[in-house]
Amino acid sequence: SEPLRIALAGLGTVGGGVIRLIETNADLIARRAERRIEIVAVAARDRSKDRGVDLSRYAWEDDMTAMAARPDVDVVVELVGGSDGPALTLARNTLAAGKDLVTANKAMIAHHGLELAALAEKADAALKFEAAVAGGIPVIKSLKEGMAANDIKRVYGILNGTCNYILSTMEDTGRDFADVLAEAQAKGYAEADPTFDIDGIDAAHKLAILSSVAFGTRMDFKSVTTRGIRRLLAADIAQADVLGYYIRLIGMADTEVDASGQRRLVQRVQPHLVHRDHPLAHVDGATNAVVAEGNFVGRLLFQGAGAGDGPTASAVVADLIDIARGDIGAPFSIPVAELGEAPAAET
Ligand code: HSE
Repeated sequence: SEPLRIALAGLGTVGGGVIRLIETNADLIARRAERRIEIVAVAARDRSKDRGVDLSRYAWEDDMTAMAARPDVDVVVELVGGSDGPALTLARNTLAAGKDLVTANKAMIAHHGLELAALAEKADAALKFEAAVAGGIPVIKSLKEGMAANDIKRVYGILNGTCNYILSTMEDTGRDFADVLAEAQAKGYAEADPTFDIDGIDAAHKLAILSSVAFGTRMDFKSVTTRGIRRLLAADIAQADVLGYYIRLIGMADTEVDASGQRRLVQRVQPHLVHRDHPLAHVDGATNAVVAEGNFVGRLLFQGAGAGDGPTASAVVADLIDIARGDIGAPFSIPVAELGEAPAAET
């Protein structure tokens, strides 16, 4: 059958990983998808940068937002990042052209997911973002499909690898914050603007997406109460340890019943004391972990690499394989029109 032809926008850590994965596992992917996945065109801000991958086989597109209009492209993979700007223009152009979009862009989905999902549904196109939450862990698929039969009570976890790397390294070594942050940046975990990591914004983007998928509510990033780890000291970590706790940045979406008997969603990102006996206490380094509780399945724990080129590429290409097989699915667990109201913002 015909190959699935993709255009790749953004050639940073993840873009390089996607090219390497598609090249390395080409035959295995072709068998599983029953067609080949072919990169046709690539684009990035800077053409001259050496990325350690051979780009000579792919057409270079100077205007990345025009990729969607190429007649030789079926799917656009957006790995540019940023909630607005060229990433959003490209996303809108792609779906408006009736083509499928795969993205790792959590900020864009958290802010504009509903609009993009409505465009996708109208065009009967796919909008897939497995890589936007918890890197390589297939948590969107697990919530949407694996837990589809459950009433989900709560979902929470460690959603930012940079913060977890900083906290667990400070804990192990007593080193200070700035020093460990520089190391996380050098390893390629941190966002271009690392304040997004350490102030909890990146985790809040991911939590807003997770709770929409888990609870069937309209995404509401603004109602996530967010506190980061900027002000934590080595002494805080040492004192928590004396009491038998570790400190982790946790994003939690929970349901509670308010005074009028309404069930409502509470979304928070904040540093938490985590008891030594809780599985999240032993999630170290840039690892992410997500706990989801369903009324029939009980408590599930998903753990793995939340950042980095290989794991994030693994999630991006899994979405491409779904599309290659003809599974465009609904972007959220239920169609956009049926999503419930967003949770009320806390004051
Ligand atoms: N900066 C993010 C993190 C990358 O540290 O988790 C993956 O989204």
